[in-house]
Amino acid sequence: MKLREEILQVLRDGGEHSGEALAERLGISRSAVWKTVKQLRRDGYAISAATRRGYRLDFAKDPLSLAILTAAMPGRRIVYREEIDSTNAAARQLAEAGAEAGTAVIAARQTAGRGRLGRSFSSDEGGLYMSVILRPSLGAEDAALLTAFAATAAAEAIEELVPSAPEIGIKWVNDLFCRGRKLAGILCEGALSIESGGFSYVVVGIGINLRRSAIPAELSEIAIALDEICTTVPGRAALAKAILDRLAASDAALAERRFLSEYRRRSVILGREVLVVRGDERYTAVAESIDDRGALSVLDRAGERHLLSSGEVSIRLGEAAR
Ligand code: BTN
Repeated sequence: MKLREEILQVLRDGGEHSGEALAERLGISRSAVWKTVKQLRRDGYAISAATRRGYRLDFAKDPLSLAILTAAMPGRRIVYREEIDSTNAAARQLAEAGAEAGTAVIAARQTAGRGRLGRSFSSDEGGLYMSVILRPSLGAEDAALLTAFAATAAAEAIEELVPSAPEIGIKWVNDLFCRGRKLAGILCEGALSIESGGFSYVVVGIGINLRRSAIPAELSEIAIALDEICTTVPGRAALAKAILDRLAASDAALAERRFLSEYRRRSVILGREVLVVRGDERYTAVAESIDDRGALSVLDRAGERHLLSSGEVSIRLGEAAR
């Protein structure tokens, strides 16, 4: 691991660390610590240094810029905007224009964040909003798998960077859940190629509530932010990198489908009563299983079984499921 990464790893606990303690812990000189901290500051990390107390990474500021993102993910094509209508819309335009797989669009806030089923996604400063272009070898019938894979990847990335976080659950098909409230949402959009019968591109859009400040009052009962469930919040660049690294392995993961057991294990609805909403139709059912294509099997109160694919169905947890 590079020295800058080692120092960041220590500072990410949000505490104060003296130059002496850092030098001793990492087996380097105090001047090497100081030089690396200066370098990190130049890259945009807000590291304060209080006399006799030490260095501290200021999470409240969590600066974001193209320089910070590029330093965190060298070699990846990144488009960064402080404000954008929707990173998914921008990524789709780039994909249509031929941008390579792996290209990511990241923004500090969105003015027209998009959710599933035509809904909007509230996207004030204090969240991570990003979209990545993939060009998967995936048939249209397996599209739900990509959303399931992205949800698993995002949950694992959060837990990797915040080991003290409570387990992150997944509400079929695309929501990350914690303590009965929504922590993150995922929207996959793509274009089918008639020639290949598969996708010419897919845009995976992920929005994660990192700070309470990102959640409007009217959503506070149903949404939750990472700073409500753990003491330290990862930097947006580090979190974006951890998620994008995982998504880079999507082709192999989708072919093997091994991630599905992890996806099912994290499910907050299996075995529970849910409200199925499909257009104007709604009924109560028990969520029974998720098949190898990501479809959800539910059993309604009349004893009839339904196999739901993600496209047009939304699931609401009943009180009993919280
Ligand atoms: C949902 O919960 O229905 C899905 C929400 C997806 C939101 C993300 S934020 C980044 C990307 N850009 C968008 O406009 N939407 C996705």
